[in-house]
Amino acid sequence: MKVTVVGAGAVGASCAEYIAMKNFASEVVLVDIKEGFAEGKAMDLMQCASLNGFDTKISGTTGDYSKTAGSKVAVITSGIPRKPGMTREELIGINAGIVKDVTENLVKHSPDVIIIVVSNPMDTMAYLVHKTSGLPKERIIGMGGALDSARFKYRMAEALECPISDVDGMVVAAHSDTGMVPLISKATRNGIPVSEFLSEEKLAYVLEETKVGGATLTKLLGTSAWYAPGAAVSVLVQSIICDQKKMIPCSLMLDGEYGQSDICLGVPAIIGKNGVEKIVDITLTEEEKEKFETAAAAVREVNGDLKF
Ligand code: NAI
Repeated sequence: MKVTVVGAGAVGASCAEYIAMKNFASEVVLVDIKEGFAEGKAMDLMQCASLNGFDTKISGTTGDYSKTAGSKVAVITSGIPRKPGMTREELIGINAGIVKDVTENLVKHSPDVIIIVVSNPMDTMAYLVHKTSGLPKERIIGMGGALDSARFKYRMAEALECPISDVDGMVVAAHSDTGMVPLISKATRNGIPVSEFLSEEKLAYVLEETKVGGATLTKLLGTSAWYAPGAAVSVLVQSIICDQKKMIPCSLMLDGEYGQSDICLGVPAIIGKNGVEKIVDITLTEEEKEKFETAAAAVREVNGDLKF
């Protein structure tokens, strides 16, 4: 099955690399606006095939969407990333125009496509794709929770001084420094609540470092991260293409779920061959519910800046 990745920059190339390395897609098409850039990235990645043992064919194009025709999944990573000190929300002006234009081109050539939105501010960009693409809501997925949950697990394992495979946990609500809600009440170490192992102080550290996970990296790197975002996208794409029906937190259009409507927010969902197979209803504590509502109000405010 064919996967298109729009934006051959840091995150797009990382998505293409992880998808190819996992060898589940027949073809990955990289699209970029910068002349020759996607072609160059594709060629470089293809030259890894014999070294890394994958058969996925990777090609690149400078804006020729006819090459993306018949894609099962398309990932939108085109747009500008944040610089140190910037919030994701500050990217809306430039990225909204890019995401709208890219979506139109994708849907024109692949009317059955499932779109994964990565460009920031991601919850608002996912909402924009819902409002402008005409696709059913099951086929638009915002990627944020998968990455934020991986960062949550990283911080839990760090605080517990244990292997990452021992811990499990999920982040819901918004993909923003202030709107992320790491579900500490559900987080476990080998099936036992992490709160039984961590002091109040360490729990607070895990929560805080998870929320600013992206900002910490942006400060260190001078731009936003790409390895973990690319890996998180590849997990979503694989769950769709291989119909794995994994439960992954994603930014989805809500219609009454979690008490919200007409907004994209991070909630756990079963991801399979049809895109969103089901939104999973988990019980939040009163504190988590309150934080979820605050995050929703902030995302609604950013959505208000969109011009369709
Ligand atoms: P980058 O600058 O390395 O790459 C972006 C690419 O998009 C560039 O190569 C650029 O030429 C291309 N582009 C711009 N306009 C285009 C258009 N109209 N059509 C096709 N290509 C176009 O940026 P990076 O680091 O790859 O980040 C991309 C986006 O992903 C940013 O908005 C960033 O904030 C977001 N991001 C989201 C994450 C998430 O968890 N949702 C995680 C990390 C980044």
